[in-house]
Amino acid sequence: MARLLLGVSGGIAAYKALEVVRLATKAGHAVRAIQTPTAQRFVGAASLAALTGAPVLVGEFERDPARGAFPDQEPPSHDPASHLELVRNADAYLIAPASANTIAKLAHGLADNLLTSAALAATCPVLVAPAMNNHMWEHPATQANLSLLRSRGVTVIEPTTGALATKNEWGTGRLADVADLFAAFEAAVPTGARPWDGLRVLVTAGGTREPIDAVRYVGNRSSGRMGFAVAEEAAALGAEVTVIAANVALPRHPGVTYVDVETAAELRDACVSAFASCDVLVMSAAVADFRPATAHEGKLKKTDRDELSLVLEKTEDVLSGLAASRRPEQTLVGFAAEHGAQALEYGRDKLQRKGLDAVVVNDVSQPGIGFDATDNEVTIVTAAGDDAVPRGTKAEVARAILATVDRLRSPVPEDVS
Ligand code: CTP
Repeated sequence: MARLLLGVSGGIAAYKALEVVRLATKAGHAVRAIQTPTAQRFVGAASLAALTGAPVLVGEFERDPARGAFPDQEPPSHDPASHLELVRNADAYLIAPASANTIAKLAHGLADNLLTSAALAATCPVLVAPAMNNHMWEHPATQANLSLLRSRGVTVIEPTTGALATKNEWGTGRLADVADLFAAFEAAVPTGARPWDGLRVLVTAGGTREPIDAVRYVGNRSSGRMGFAVAEEAAALGAEVTVIAANVALPRHPGVTYVDVETAAELRDACVSAFASCDVLVMSAAVADFRPATAHEGKLKKTDRDELSLVLEKTEDVLSGLAASRRPEQTLVGFAAEHGAQALEYGRDKLQRKGLDAVVVNDVSQPGIGFDATDNEVTIVTAAGDDAVPRGTKAEVARAILATVDRLRSPVPEDVS
């Protein structure tokens, strides 16, 4: 199963886009479609929406009810920019039919509508299937534009020769056969193409709760958003992801496995059983450092007391314990929620002390980031130095964390010249 983004530009052949969608969905792929305004004159959004089972977008400023998600994905909790999110989620972007005008824009990097903006933002394979009148096809401008696109790695699916749309016109410019378009898309997405296919990622998220009695607990304000974002981004890269979720009330990703825990001890047990088989551990949970030494059975009554003292005992440091039994090829990422000027210093200390590969430091004294916020701003500390990640959504910060994991796991070979 792969995700096909289909861009439909203006031309008589636009109706064949429906057949491409039908073939792709029949084969089990998830499809989203976008159209240029001119394409709407040739094929209706309602038809594409019915066949893809997802909203069809035309404008860059149009709100996407699916928030950039493909039919097999859970929409994110925020409204992302459609031209970025759709291509980020897609395994390949097929523009069919591609008019001479759209090809010219793609060749010169113009981004004046959603289809062309998405092409400029695409890091997935891009395929272009021209369809136009034979004179337009043969024009040196069109041929030069196509050469430019080919030189940049775009796959051009050659048009065929035959009767054209205009009466009595014959020549090259007919959109390639629908079956060939579909085959080109599938060839562009080899199975197992995602960079983290086969990688096992373990993420802890949320905040632990340590019982005082049957109804009260000592807890913290962690929502689990950061850890869930890391898990979703890792799953999007193809990883097999398990999240140990401590009291997280957020939507769940269908492709991720969740293990629910409540206390630090439960989190430790769940981590211990999953750790040995993971390749990457991202420990974003806020784990209690202390817990009530005794949890009262039933509910504590306030009668006969003017005050209540809680004796707290230290919990085990889960991450340090896991790091002590690590395999050298595992990658361990810790978090450090710190307060104020010495945040980075504390982060570097945790990197050393806990035996980690990276520590994500955030200064929780700053308003609007960190605990229970939708945004974050962090510095990723590794042995190679510090990497400041500017304020952004937790999905963006998650991507930066995973990029660091990638670098740590595949270091650039030393220059031997
Ligand atoms: N951590 C853990 N077990 C604990 C406490 C923390 O595994 N009992 C993990 C957290 O998930 C995080 C990292 O250790 O990835 C750092 O957590 P933090 O609370 O910032 O650090 P501590 O080592 O507890 O130090 P301090 O509270 O003194 O800053």
